[in-house]
Amino acid sequence: MKTSTMTSTRVLTFSLIVSLLTFCHGDLQQEDEFLYDTFPEGFRWGFATAAYQIEGAWNIDGKGESIWDRFTHRLVSPIIDGSNGDIACDSYHKYPRDVELLKSMGVQFYRFSISWSRVLPRGTNDLVNEVGISYYNNLINLLISNNIIPMVTMYHWDLPQNLQSQFGGWPNETLIEHFENYARLLYERFGDRVKHWMTFNVRILGEATEPYKCAHTILKSHAKAYRLYEREFKEWQNGEVGIVIDSEFMQPDNPDDPTHVEAAERALRFKHGWFAFPVFFGDYPSVMRELVDARSEAEGRNASRLPTLDEEWQTMLRGSFDFLGVNHYTTELVRPAAAQGLPGWSGDQQVSKRKDPSWEGSASAWLKKVPWGFRKYLNWLKNTYDNPVMYITENGWSDDGRDPTNDTSRSLFYRDYINNVLKAVKLDGVNIKGYTAWSLMDNFEWANGFTDRFGVHWVDFTDPERQVIPKDSSVVLKKIFEDNGFVEE
Ligand code: BGC
Repeated sequence: MKTSTMTSTRVLTFSLIVSLLTFCHGDLQQEDEFLYDTFPEGFRWGFATAAYQIEGAWNIDGKGESIWDRFTHRLVSPIIDGSNGDIACDSYHKYPRDVELLKSMGVQFYRFSISWSRVLPRGTNDLVNEVGISYYNNLINLLISNNIIPMVTMYHWDLPQNLQSQFGGWPNETLIEHFENYARLLYERFGDRVKHWMTFNVRILGEATEPYKCAHTILKSHAKAYRLYEREFKEWQNGEVGIVIDSEFMQPDNPDDPTHVEAAERALRFKHGWFAFPVFFGDYPSVMRELVDARSEAEGRNASRLPTLDEEWQTMLRGSFDFLGVNHYTTELVRPAAAQGLPGWSGDQQVSKRKDPSWEGSASAWLKKVPWGFRKYLNWLKNTYDNPVMYITENGWSDDGRDPTNDTSRSLFYRDYINNVLKAVKLDGVNIKGYTAWSLMDNFEWANGFTDRFGVHWVDFTDPERQVIPKDSSVVLKKIFEDNGFVEE
């Protein structure tokens, strides 16, 4: 206690000096001192991946087609390099290699996702693919025998194509029941060994069609899966269920302008609060309700584009989490703007966003390095949701893969971002139990194919053996994991 108070006093004094200094130098308000300290005992370290991004074997051993299989197989490829996840890292065949890599990094857990259509080829529980179930059993067992805790995401974007073709996908609330059945199967088959479940990995991109409807179904499906566990499994399986929400931090473009401060808060509520407010408080943020209702009315609709949660659903949703999963990569500068564009989530917020041109860029256009934004974001989560138990479920940096090993910018990214997590935990009292790096190895980065590489291991996607080579950042990250933080040399 005493040491940590002393450390914080030292850091506070120092940062005061730094902020005074930077004040004189203009807009470097966010700089402060690197913190040498360790995370609390029992803090956990791990890596994350997702089924479609690594597994391959898209049509092997009874796996059904998913919407990502269908999408990437279009005649005119929607993927930047024309690639797809048909083979990806071939983790379906090479999962022992993945476990070796995890071991070599000294992690305590591995966050991976289950491909819904691998275990239920049609998405419905009338046909269970036992070979698919065996694959996950083998992976889970191998992890456990190596002392690596499995943390499982049920849905990381690869909806069974049949649910899309037959019901039109997430806008259709019929999917709630199918998701609940899928969750039941997972609890039944894996819940004796899997104690950490994440229902959804949520990241809605800008102008998806009918995003409010999709989100509505997803939220209800989450609540059903959470309550199912609570009712029928928790007592004897003793695990926990959460949801993973991705968001940037929204920094007021001009922090001295109250309208910018308000706009940034609004943007956070539209992005993170959209999913988290129902899960924590039972309903959508009131600012969303007001703005979307008003705009919908002005558009001459007889119902709001933002659907309503009735009391029964509110009760089911409120408190439907044991922890919050936090995916975070970057920050936006936000100011107010008139409602713009087509009717939809982006324009409804009445904000405009930009990145500071001085922020260092990665291989991904959207991903700029803003380490201080992470600490501010974690504090925002703490204050907005009353300091829930959180895991950082993703955080990482992309390169273009041309140099297999030299990735200094990623090493520095991890060092600086994790140092801000440390400050959030030690100096600000944010309740974070673990940190997950994205990703264990280069993988299929959705619409960007294999051009944006997030791995700490380089993968040769031209080699049928999918040889992997450790990048320099793997050494840096391993040391942080080993030291449980940062030890002054
Ligand atoms: C997604 C990952 C993705 C990463 C980088 C995350 O929000 O969950 O699947 O690879 O962002 O774009």
